[in-house]
Amino acid sequence: MKVLVTGGTGFIGSHTCVELINNGHDVIIVDNLSNSSREVLNRIAKITGSIPKFYKDDLLDNEALDSIFEENKIDSVIHFAGYKAVGESVEKPLMYYQNNVIATLNLLDKMVKYNVKRLVFSSSATVYGDPDMVPIVETSRLQPTNPYGNTKLVIEDILRDVAYADHQWQIALLRYFNPIGAHSSGLIGETPNGIPNNLLPYIAQVATGKREELRVWGNDYPTIDGTGVRDYIHVVDLAVGHLKALKYIDNHPGIEAFNLGRGVGYSVLQVVQAFEKATGQKIPYQIMDRRPGDIATCFADTKKAKDLLNFEAIYDIEQMCSDLWNFYKNNPEGIKE
Ligand code: WQD
Repeated sequence: MKVLVTGGTGFIGSHTCVELINNGHDVIIVDNLSNSSREVLNRIAKITGSIPKFYKDDLLDNEALDSIFEENKIDSVIHFAGYKAVGESVEKPLMYYQNNVIATLNLLDKMVKYNVKRLVFSSSATVYGDPDMVPIVETSRLQPTNPYGNTKLVIEDILRDVAYADHQWQIALLRYFNPIGAHSSGLIGETPNGIPNNLLPYIAQVATGKREELRVWGNDYPTIDGTGVRDYIHVVDLAVGHLKALKYIDNHPGIEAFNLGRGVGYSVLQVVQAFEKATGQKIPYQIMDRRPGDIATCFADTKKAKDLLNFEAIYDIEQMCSDLWNFYKNNPEGIKE
């Protein structure tokens, strides 16, 4: 199948392209490289033996998108492209709505124009906000607490309306929990810009000596040890989940949302312990005040993805940590040009 992957040089996008190519799909990547580098294409080629067709373009560029659809007979789209930093979205909401929502509307217009109606959309567990109960099921209330989460929910609502209006659409909404880790080759992984917001890239930078110590944002939550509990899923498991979703929508018109997580919650201190055990690296830390906007506990009910997609995450927290460390040891600054 010929699959257009938007944001395909990003963290989850690049891992998904590797799985797509290794499973015989023909991959075309469009990415504006605002949060990734062209070097990722060479890394994908090193892993898979083939370099995907690449367009350095922005989804807001109408002419560029027309060319992509005119030059390629696209069967399906996996849409990753978008900004994803919660804190930044609070400071710059319009930039997030412009880049995430307007760009998606642009993409959907082209998909209609060229009659491409199979879509896997990169949503997020942030659409659940502070969950009423855990584990979180797909029918839980959708109540994001930040502009980034709002953009994901707005796009989900747009896609639900589109699927309702035109039954030819075949759409999967994938709500990621906390993707971490890296491909076992150590060639691709997450390249955070500036000071990492997320826990694992920050821990990795403490391990490489780039950061002094980990700041643990609060230890007074109602959790096993007072620190925040999240559902960490290996990025390669997540990538495989996209292929399962692609297969599912192939003979399921309409729209379905799926949680992609492991269904297991780990606290910050449990993750630190797992990282130290998996890598032999000591991670000094200091307990700080809570981070505004953080919630205590968040982890997935994974039954729907298992039943309908036949998807189950297989890598455990130690494997996620050792694969992450293997990448950062070889790429302490991430993947740059
Ligand atoms: C995890 C835990 C922090 C950093 C974010 C996005 C979400 C999704 C996944 C895209 C929390 C604690 C963190 C640090 C810490 N991304 N922490 N010190 O906030 O669950 O979700 O990533 O879809 O949109 O919001 O992930 O990694 O930032 O935090 O103590 O330096 O680690 O308080 O408990 P989060 P995170």
